[in-house]
Amino acid sequence: MAFSQSFLDELIARNDITDVVSGYVNLTKKGGNFFGLCPFHNEKTGSFSVSPDKQIYHCFGCKKGGGVINFVMEMENFSFPEAVEFLAKRVNLPLPEQGKGSDDSLRRRILALNRDAARFFYETLQTPEGAAVEKYLETRKISLKTAVNFGLGAAQDKWDALLQAMTRKGYAKSELLSAGLVVQGKNGNLYDKFRNRLIFPVIDNRGDVVAFGGRIISKDDPGAKYMNSPETVVYSKRRVLYGLNLAKKSKRGNIILCEGNIDVVMLHQAGFDNAVASMGTALTQEQTRLLSRCTKELILCYDNDDAGKIATQKALAILQDSEFNVKVLQLPKRFVDGEYVKQDADDFIKYQGREAFERLLSGSADGMDFRMEQVAARFDLSDDKQKVEYAAAVSELIATLSNAVEREVYTARAAALCSVTPQALALDVQRARKRLFTKADRMQRRADLNPIAQVQPKLRTVRYDNVRSAMAEEGVIRLLTLDESLFGEVETLSSSEFSCQLLGRVFDALLSQKNDGHISVPLLARELSGEEMSHVSQLLQKPESAANAHRALRDYITLIKEEAQKRSGAGYDPLAAAVEKYKSKKGHGGK
Ligand code: CTP
Ligand code: MN
Repeated sequence: MAFSQSFLDELIARNDITDVVSGYVNLTKKGGNFFGLCPFHNEKTGSFSVSPDKQIYHCFGCKKGGGVINFVMEMENFSFPEAVEFLAKRVNLPLPEQGKGSDDSLRRRILALNRDAARFFYETLQTPEGAAVEKYLETRKISLKTAVNFGLGAAQDKWDALLQAMTRKGYAKSELLSAGLVVQGKNGNLYDKFRNRLIFPVIDNRGDVVAFGGRIISKDDPGAKYMNSPETVVYSKRRVLYGLNLAKKSKRGNIILCEGNIDVVMLHQAGFDNAVASMGTALTQEQTRLLSRCTKELILCYDNDDAGKIATQKALAILQDSEFNVKVLQLPKRFVDGEYVKQDADDFIKYQGREAFERLLSGSADGMDFRMEQVAARFDLSDDKQKVEYAAAVSELIATLSNAVEREVYTARAAALCSVTPQALALDVQRARKRLFTKADRMQRRADLNPIAQVQPKLRTVRYDNVRSAMAEEGVIRLLTLDESLFGEVETLSSSEFSCQLLGRVFDALLSQKNDGHISVPLLARELSGEEMSHVSQLLQKPESAANAHRALRDYITLIKEEAQKRSGAGYDPLAAAVEKYKSKKGHGGK
């Protein structure tokens, strides 16, 4: 369904970008623009800017940018129509009548189907068909109240229980397939994906059921312990955290991040209603963005085994330099039959109780302690030679701390471990820090010296093949958005003469906007992807003077035409072209 330009104009006009962004970001005015901490990446100093004149935002750090529609798409994880709907609701603007059959209506159908399926699994749990799962919940000490809270359900030990029930409700087989709830066998027959399993509906921030996880209920089941929905039109596992729909309402000031669904369920049951899980995958940047909306403090509570430690380290790496205060809760191993075994949060609550977990929680060390221990564990500190190696390794780590007091504290602690004086170790740290800076400087200098690299778009999807022409093309776009009276000057210019396809499309879009009335940069969201929109917002940040606009525009056009001529054959040199072709073949994996 396409929204008319006049409707979108009205929508954008009523949803002032500064107002909308202020709902998420603390903005302060500086000159004509507003600045704040970027909501899309972790940072401590604000590089996120909003221009009320242009009605766009742009982050100088992560390079994201766009108009008000892009902002809510990015922020709320919405599709274009969802974002439009959201903004319309925000200002009580009635939506135009919508046709069916678009991608968006498939989304809606799948969400409805998922909700009905979740209800079906949930109801099954109360019937005799759900008895086996109910019994399993008992053995895991999951109460009925908790099961209701999480909407846990039962998948029957049948091939088509859900398929039948949902078909009766009017869902098409294609919809069941798109939702990942049924699978097509080799003979073409459809059957339920989840059978004889405890079902965990996965609910996103908006409260929609976007996916399911299913756990086997018997040790003898030969299937995988967990089975999850595939990625679908409504589900991207990078963008969801299990339990966050509940945890975001918690009164506790922080969020506990653990590994498994059962850990989350058990923690909530024990009163830790701030637990979430990334469902067996490493923490992603998208997930930290979701988290940053509800808390400033994260407690990593991964399993105490090698996999858990690796997951902890990966998460710490992603959270480094973020505004989160990060702590690592190390679950002690449990001594059983003469050996230590790992326990996860669920085990710990079960064997040690909730008070013990509360104590662990209040004592959980911050990420640096965990890393210091990891480094120390690599060396045998009773050996003099290894002590020296430890001192070198730990200074590298301490050197990364930007706070001088913190550096001193950790230096003293590490010095005691390898029995050297803090002063001696502090020298090592200082040296390591210098190395760190010169390395960063070197890389920066190299980047500065490379003009081509500097003007190349920061996005993977856009590359300038002809930098000279692209700079002029950018200029044309900047000028047209600055002063609409300039459109008369570009009649002779055609997007086919643009060297950069994206900029050509932007040019065409601006022309057609102008034809329909007036131009609007935020409205480009209709034609461009988020990345492309970011690129356009970025190029609009570069300075362009309106003073000599006509003259500048003419120069840009001349240059673009000149370069287009060179490409189109007037200056075509078959020999040079053949050489180029040979070179590029060689470069691409030839012998
Ligand atoms: N997981 C998965 N597929 C698997 C195993 C695990 O998707 N084959 C995901 C599940 O989301 C699971 C999480 O990884 O919850 C953590 O796995 P694990 O620690 O093995 O499961 P627990 O949740 O602790 O389950 P249980 O206590 O029942 O063993
Ligand atoms: Mn477990």
